Formats: sequence, structure tokens, C-alpha cells
Amino acid sequence: MKESTVNKNVLKSAYDPSSFREIGHALVDLLSDHLENVQEDRSQVVLPYKKPEDVLAFWKNDYTSSQTGVIETFKAILEQSIHVHHPRYIGHQVAVPAPIAGLAGLMSDFLSNGTGVYEMGMAANAIEKIVTDLVCKRIGYSNKESSGILTSGGSLANLTALLSARKAKAPTSVWDHGHQEKLAVMVSEEAHYCIDRAARVLGLGNEGIIKVPANENFAIDINSLNTSLDKAKAKGYHVIAIIGCACSTATGSYDDLNALADFAEQNKLWFHVDGAHGGAVIFSEKYKHLVDGISRADSVVIDFHKMLMTPALTTGLFFKRSEDSYKTFEQKAQYLWDTQHTKEWYNSGKRTFECTKLMMSIKVYSILKTYGEEIFEQNVNTLYDLATVFSKMIADRNNFELLQDPEANIVNFRYLSNQETDSSRLNGLIRQKLIESGKFYIVQTTIAGKKYLRTTIMNQLTTKEDLEVLLDEIEELGTLLLD
Ligand SMILES: Cc1ncc(COP(=O)(O)O)c(C=O)c1O
Repeated sequence: MKESTVNKNVLKSAYDPSSFREIGHALVDLLSDHLENVQEDRSQVVLPYKKPEDVLAFWKNDYTSSQTGVIETFKAILEQSIHVHHPRYIGHQVAVPAPIAGLAGLMSDFLSNGTGVYEMGMAANAIEKIVTDLVCKRIGYSNKESSGILTSGGSLANLTALLSARKAKAPTSVWDHGHQEKLAVMVSEEAHYCIDRAARVLGLGNEGIIKVPANENFAIDINSLNTSLDKAKAKGYHVIAIIGCACSTATGSYDDLNALADFAEQNKLWFHVDGAHGGAVIFSEKYKHLVDGISRADSVVIDFHKMLMTPALTTGLFFKRSEDSYKTFEQKAQYLWDTQHTKEWYNSGKRTFECTKLMMSIKVYSILKTYGEEIFEQNVNTLYDLATVFSKMIADRNNFELLQDPEANIVNFRYLSNQETDSSRLNGLIRQKLIESGKFYIVQTTIAGKKYLRTTIMNQLTTKEDLEVLLDEIEELGTLLLD
């Protein structure tokens, strides 16, 4: 057999402690400088926008060039990435991660404990229990009966919750026998697309996803629930679950969770709350009224990587009755555990899609341990408060139209000009020019056929002045574009 041509020294150097130390220090210096720059200097760009082909060409060239060291590569990655730590990042609902949690992420990647079974993540599993128990308590669940798991993102967590719902409510076990009945779930038409996707993955099909109309505030229309259910029944559907949005993605509207809980009880449905974004208000005395009734849900999803300052992906899925979470995936995995029927919190893979999972619990824990639970309350309050201030600033300006008073930190609005009849086109162009300038990062959404500029205030350091400048910029771009 031909002898391996791999130079053994290369393998050795990949694991060399002193080189790790040197590069690690340089990387932390690089990121600390970056943090200081973007926080202090508003002239730094938020998004160094370049065309996709140009970025690809850069990296193709980089890969074949032997001259650059890894720190130069890290610098280039930084320079070609969006900067969520910049106070003028006001775009998608991605947390501005607390740097301490980023360091915990480095530990997770370095240690690479798979966490699915106890031995492969002793600390991570114990910490996961502490973190999820703490959230269960905040939801208002009884700590004896409830429990939670961490999983990779809100989409996967919502899918997992719907699998639990199916297990609990389908007349025949789909897990064992495939579909015997026509199953369906009910959800607001404003729900995040991942609910629709999850229902399709579950094999429910078009008609198995009953989209309940939203009211004028974009929350589920409680008055339409019975009609929607009756229609589904008349078509032979067996509805297993109703999902509440806390809050919706496009507009940040909270569904009336108590009304949904009543409806679920009356009709013996599983009640799931998608609180990926706005479930975090359970930490805030000021805003927790928005999720009144959440403790009546059978399951709740909350993304730590949205409103809770943790790097993506870190999502919690919480069950009112712990045993439901153990029933979701009833499968043998002989090489991991002897039996699926026992309920060990420390073998987290029994309850999650993932077999190998990041040590996500340590990221949340590092924040809690360093700053206390109050930091989550402060984060939510600061961002929600500023959104209200911003909405008033928009409402006070000529040429701007506010979609609605925000309940969360999501604010939608449009620039209007009597010189342009196609305001969707105009707002789309304004956003494109704005993000290409690198001065701000905001996004867009279409509501009732009209394009809106969409902002989510995610950064603690965003100020009222930043938001004034944003509106000025939009106005200026609007005027220029119409010239
Ligand atoms: C309400 C809601 N649910 C679920 C998701 C999906 O979460 P993830 O991106 O963590 O998969 C989102 C993402 O924006 C969301 O806003």
C-alpha cells in the first residue's frame, strides 16, 4: 500500500498549544477592537455591502493564495460580515450576543461535547437543566411537573413541539402506524413560516394547516376560531393543536393566549405557544402581561438567540408536563442508552432531534452567572421601550406612515411621497440604497400587499438620536430617488 503522503508535523501543529494560545489571543484582540470601534464610532459601516459574485471571487482568490495567515483570514471574515454589535444594526431579530456568551461558544466548539448522552456533556447537561428549569418557573409552570430542553433554533423547536402534540392528541399513533386520520393544526395567518413548514413535514398537507384570520392588530382573530374549527371538522379533519404567536414575526403582535387556552381546553387540543421572539417578556415585570395565559400552554418555544443576548442558535422548548417531552421520540438507540422508557434529564438526546448538539446551555449560563437574571429584564425593557419612542417619532413626521403602535420592539413604517404613487417600489429602493451605504441595516416586509420598512431594535446601544438620523437618511434618499 502506498505510504501516506500527509506530513505528520502538520497534524501535530494543528493541535499545538502555543500556536492556539497565540492565535486565540490575536483573535480576542481583533474582536475586542472591533467591539470598541463599532460601539464608539458611528461612521463605521454596519454592513460592508458587496455583490455576491465579488465576495465569492475574493474568497476563491484567498483560498488559493498561500500568503495570508489565519488572522488575516479572520480579519477578512470580520470585514465582510454584518456587524450586529453596531448600534445602527436595526434589522433581523438576531440577538446582539453578550461577548461573554461568545467566549462560552468558543468553549463549546473547543470541547465539542456532544451532550446527547450524559458522559458526552456532564456539565452542559446539568447546566441545561438549571437554565431550562429557571425558564419553566418564569413561564409559571410547576417546577415538579415541567421541564425543558435546548435545541438548535426556533424552527426545530416548533417542529418538535408539534410532534409532541401529535403524539399526545392523534387518535392513532402516527409514529408507529403512519397516518390513519386526516390531522390538522390551527394557527394565525400571521405565524412564522416555520409553523407551516413543520406542519408540512408532519405530513399534514395544505388543508391540515388551518390559517385562522388575523384581526386589525395582526393578532389571531379569536372570533374566527370556532368557524375555522367547524369548517375543518366538516371536511373530516381531526384538529390536534392550536398555536399561539407571542409575538408574530412581521409585526410583533401578541395573540390573546388566555383566549387560546380556553379554546384549547374546550376542544381538547394541544396548546403550543411560539414565543421564539417575544416569549422573553416572561423576564420583564413591565411587559410580561403580554403573555398572560402562557402558563396554560402545553409547550412553549423561546429563542435565547433573539431577545436574550445569546449567540445563535440557542432555543428552549418547555413542556408543562415533562413526560410529554420523553414521549416525542420513542426510538431505540442501543449504543446511546439501554431503554427509551426511562426519563433521565441528563441524557438530553432522548428528547431532541439532535444526536450531537452544541453545548448551548453554557452560553446562556455564562450570561446569567456573570450578570444575573435581571439582565434579561433590562434587555427586554430597553428594547421594547425604545420601539415605542421610535414609533412616536415616526408618527410625528410628515411623509411617514406608521403601520401600528408596536407591542414589541418591531416597528414597521413607510416613507410616503405625493410625487410617487408606487410607494412599495420607492420603499424597496430606499432600503436597498440605505443598506448599500452601510450606514444602517434595516429590513422590509410586505403587509396587505404593501412594502414596509421593518426595523427591530435589537441593540442596547441604539439611541433615539440614531433613530432620528435613520429617519433623516430615509427622507433624504426618498427625495434623491424621486429627483
Ligand atoms: C415567531 C418566530 N418563530 C420562529 C422563528 C424561527 O426561529 P429560528 O430562526 O430560530 O429557527 C422565528 C424567526 O424569526 C420567529 O420570529
